[in-house]
Amino acid sequence: MKKIISKTGKINFAGLILIGGSALFLAFTPSLKVSDGKWMAPASADKTTNPVAKNEANLAAGKDLFIKTCAICHGKKGKGDGPKTAELDKPVGDFTKEDFGKQSDGAIFWKITEGNKPMPSFKKEMTEEQRWLLVNYTRQFCAKK
Ligand code: HEC
Repeated sequence: MKKIISKTGKINFAGLILIGGSALFLAFTPSLKVSDGKWMAPASADKTTNPVAKNEANLAAGKDLFIKTCAICHGKKGKGDGPKTAELDKPVGDFTKEDFGKQSDGAIFWKITEGNKPMPSFKKEMTEEQRWLLVNYTRQFCAKK
């Protein structure tokens, strides 16, 4: 009799762990679903306003920065096919896709600023103005399509 009790006791304990585990899993699942596993900027980034005008001179300056610093991974045309992509463990994304263009300027600025390995952070390497020039330029890839 004692044996049976302790056996059920064990089973109950295991059951509890299982239920607890699933509850934890369920609690975290919705947040994963929202982002769909994609790298998302926080909602607060959408509120940042772009101080740099999208004029010809600024787009040319953005292109210059992009070709020098970003094209090695993102490709000259922003399609995500730069020569360095062969060494990376995840895709760099395609700037010509509609999904990219749906993001706010502030969200793109946040991503260039913060980075997400292997995407480098450009917080220190570039001025805010340079990062905004790049926001405007990368957005072009999608708009042109
Ligand atoms: C070493 C390769 C590398 C370089 C250099 C690089 N990136 Fe990236 N970039 C990535 C990778 C990888 C991702 C995808 C990261 C992720 O999804 O977690 C990414 C993602 C991004 C995104 C987000 C794309 C999206 O779909 O929302 C932006 C914007 C971006 N990069 C801009 C730039 C800019 C601008 C530069 C140059 C200043 C640059 N990157 C330089 C590798 C790179």
